[in-house]
Amino acid sequence: MHSAFETAPATTAIPITFVTKTTWDAIGAALPAQARQFAQANGFAAKPGKCLTLPAADGRIAQVLFGLEDDAAPWRDLFRPGQLPGLLPPGVYRFANAPHDMRLAALAFALGSYRFGRYRKNKAPSVRLVPPDGVDIADITRMAEAAAFARDLINTPANDMGPEELALAAQDLAGRYGADFDCIVGDDLVRRNFPLIHAVGMASPRAPRLIDFSWGDPAHPKVTLVGKGVCFDTGGLDLKPSAGMLIMKKDMGGAANALALASMVMDARLKVRLRVLIPAVENAVAGNAFRPLDIFRSRKGVTVEIGNTDAEGRLVLADALALADEEKPDLLIDLGTLTGAARVALGPDLPPFYTNDERLALEVTAHAKTENDPLWRLPLWPPYDSWLDSKVADINNAPSGAFAGSITCALFLQRFVGAAKSWLHVDIYGWTPSAKPGRPEGGECQAARAIYKLLSQRYG
Ligand code: BES
Ligand code: MN
Ligand code: ZN
Repeated sequence: MHSAFETAPATTAIPITFVTKTTWDAIGAALPAQARQFAQANGFAAKPGKCLTLPAADGRIAQVLFGLEDDAAPWRDLFRPGQLPGLLPPGVYRFANAPHDMRLAALAFALGSYRFGRYRKNKAPSVRLVPPDGVDIADITRMAEAAAFARDLINTPANDMGPEELALAAQDLAGRYGADFDCIVGDDLVRRNFPLIHAVGMASPRAPRLIDFSWGDPAHPKVTLVGKGVCFDTGGLDLKPSAGMLIMKKDMGGAANALALASMVMDARLKVRLRVLIPAVENAVAGNAFRPLDIFRSRKGVTVEIGNTDAEGRLVLADALALADEEKPDLLIDLGTLTGAARVALGPDLPPFYTNDERLALEVTAHAKTENDPLWRLPLWPPYDSWLDSKVADINNAPSGAFAGSITCALFLQRFVGAAKSWLHVDIYGWTPSAKPGRPEGGECQAARAIYKLLSQRYG
C-alpha cells in the first residue's frame, strides 16, 4: 500500500498551519504582508475545510492554511485534516501547529489518502506527511492499512469477491502471520453440521464456506471474531427491489472488518489466542434456493423457520456463533451488515452495538470516542425476545412486525451464544454513502479500530 507518511528526513516539507475562526486574526496578522494580502484577496475566512496555498516570492508554495472548527464549536470533526490529501498539490508536508487532536489528524490524513484503484490507474494522491512528533506512527500506519484492506475487500464488486475470493483473502492474511487456516466448503457444511450456512449459500454456483483461522498462544485469553460474509445479497426468493440491492456487494462488510481487526491484532502481537470465523456465502436465487417457511435445524439444535430469505445474515452468523461458543471464548465479537433498521435508527455513520457486559459496553463507548470510530449502544431488550416465536419451530428469523429490527436481530443472535464469557455484537453499515473527511465514498472500516484499541488496552 502507498504510505501517506514521509519516512526520509524532509527538511523542505511544506508547513500546514491550522486556523480557526478565533485563531485566524492572530495567525493572519503574523504572516508576511504579501501573504496576508494574498489570503485576503482570496477571501480566505478560516472556515472548516477551507484550504489555501500561499506562494513564496519564487512562485513555489511557501505554506498552507487549513481551516478547522472553532474550539468553542458545539462539534468538531477531528478527522477534518483527512480532507488535505484530496486538496493539496503533490508534495511533502508537515503540520506547523497543533490541530485539535494530533494523533487523529495524522490518522485522518492517512485514511483520507485512500483511493480504490483496482480497476483503473490508482489515483491515490501523491501527498505525503512528515510524521508529527509524539505520535506512534507505526500504530497509525497499522490502522490505516487495516482500513484500506477492509475498504478494498468491500469495494471489490461481487463478480471478483465471491465466497472463494473472500476465503483466499483470509488465507493470505492468515499465512502472513503464521495462523492455522481451515475452510469448510459446500456439502461438507452439511456433513460437519452447519445447516444454516449451507441453506443460505446453496443456491449460488459459488459454493458457501466457513473460513476458520486461529493465531497466537493457546494459553492466552480466547478472543473470537465472527464476520458476516454475504458476498452479495439479492434477498433470495424474497428478492430485494433494485434500489435495495444496488450496493449489496458490501454485505461482506462484517467479514472485511473482522479481517481488518484480525490484521491489527496479529500485527501488534496482542496477547490473545485469536480465532476468526467467517461464513462466506452468496444469497442467490435459483430453483434450489431456500424458501419462505422452510425450517432448518441449526448447528445448535434450535429449529429455525424462515420468515424471510432476506434475513440471511443472522442465519449464517447463528451457525458460526454456535461453533465459536462451543470453546467458551473469553470474548466473542461478531460484526455484520445485518439490518436496514440499524441505518434507519442511527444512520450510516453510527453503528449500534449490543452487549450485556456492562464493563465491556463502557470500554467500547470510550474507545469508539477516542478513535473517532463512532458506536452507540442499543439494548438487548428482553420483552421483545418473544417476537422471535414461531408457531411451528423454536424460532423465526424475521419477526412479522416492522418494529426494532436491529434489536430483534441482536436477540436472534443471542439465542446462539451461551457459554462465551462475554459477547459483543455490532450491526455495521460498512459503507460511506458520500465522502466525508478521512472517509472517501464507498466501503468503510467500522468498529474495527475501536475494538482493536479496546483489545490493545486489555491484552497489549
Ligand atoms: N444485508 C441486509 C441489511 C442491510 C440492508 C444493510 C440495507 C444495509 C443496508 C440484510 O441481509 C437484510 O436484508 N435485512 C433485512 C431483514 C428483514 C428481512 C427482517 C432488512 O433489514 O430489511
Ligand atoms: Mn438480506
Ligand atoms: Zn444481508
